Amino acid sequence: MPKFSRDDFLALDEKDDLAPFRDEFQLAKDLIYLDGNSLGAMPVAALAKAQDVVAREWGQDLITSWNKNGWFHLAEKLGNKIARLIGADEGEVMACDATGLNLYKLLSMALDMRPERKVIVMEGSNFPTDNYMAQGLIHQRGQGHEIRFAEQDDIMAAITEDVAVVSLTQVHYKSGYLLDMKAITQKAHQVGALVIWDLCHSAGALPVALNDCQADFALGCGYKYLNGGPGAPAFLYVAKRHQGKAMQPLTGWWGHANPFAFEQDYRPADNIWQCLTGTQPILSLSVLGCGLDIFERADMGKIRVKSMKLCDYFIDLVEEYCADFGFTLASPRDSTKRGSQVSFTHEQGYAIMQALIAKNIVGDFRAPDIIRFGFTPLYTRYVDVWDAVMGLRNIMENDLWRRPEYSKREAVT
Ligand SMILES: Cc1ncc(COP(=O)(O)O)c(C=O)c1O
Repeated sequence: MPKFSRDDFLALDEKDDLAPFRDEFQLAKDLIYLDGNSLGAMPVAALAKAQDVVAREWGQDLITSWNKNGWFHLAEKLGNKIARLIGADEGEVMACDATGLNLYKLLSMALDMRPERKVIVMEGSNFPTDNYMAQGLIHQRGQGHEIRFAEQDDIMAAITEDVAVVSLTQVHYKSGYLLDMKAITQKAHQVGALVIWDLCHSAGALPVALNDCQADFALGCGYKYLNGGPGAPAFLYVAKRHQGKAMQPLTGWWGHANPFAFEQDYRPADNIWQCLTGTQPILSLSVLGCGLDIFERADMGKIRVKSMKLCDYFIDLVEEYCADFGFTLASPRDSTKRGSQVSFTHEQGYAIMQALIAKNIVGDFRAPDIIRFGFTPLYTRYVDVWDAVMGLRNIMENDLWRRPEYSKREAVT
């Protein structure tokens, strides 16, 4: 006897407090969107907001908008909204620039704060841009820094007395493995190192407790779980106790202590503004605000509980209904050790994902063989879990993935 039926999942949706949030996103009724861990869905409010910012704020109010429509303080205002989601205080977060750029700035500051040490601990299998940015920074500084790569289980042992900075992503982009922020931060501090957390797959996906963990620095992107739109501005966090203690390397006028004094020489602000460089992308920031407004009304604790359930059910159903088709779970089975995504490996993963997308079940593929499914409790329905697994079973039973068009590699996977 099967353990579940579709009706069981419809019943869960009926009882779900978060279910009404789906209407706040632009999503077709029959779309099963399991890729919010890569590009979040569009808040319905974003279209009117973009129109208003372009037509009225820019079109009519022009330059006066810097004051009149709050453009100058927008990065800080949105930063404070993000702060609430990641366990930070007001004045510790800025919404600005790109993820990689923010890592560059923070890593440089952290290295300056540990001038006698040369080792940076990172995860070799992390999303590559973090490692690439660190390599570029080391090259540019030319001071003999080196990266010590460690994987999940070796990280603690890699944090020794010679380490300047530990720079890690809390939730792994492929496996969804959730690192223990508190334990790693504590270990780093015990040996005198600083820690930078990349929250790309955490912010908006699960409650993050930066200050409770005594984190030093953090950053993340706006376009995944925060639903800020393609290429949305990212964010960065500097714990209050570190603000004004080191200079960031991209010393543009917005990070100056008094930008409108137009002084000849750079003088950094002694607060979070020191991390800004130049004029911020107001159109994109305004749209990011729509995603963040939704989170103001949603409870992160409830989001986490639903996320764990969605992922657990998905694993159970794949293992029950697709057991004979060669999928291997690549994510932790224990939901407390997992972010809000589930990955499986399969040697035909690419073609299988293309066949799923053709059925309106959208996830993504990460080379060489991972298919990823992101669960975003604000708009993923319980019944989506059932329907996605039944779609997957149908594709496997009928060999639909073998169609030649599903093997053609697109530029973005
Ligand atoms: C952990 C992590 N860091 C950084 C990035 C991307 O950085 P950027 O927004 O600068 O392209 C990603 C993208 O998926 C990521 O998963």
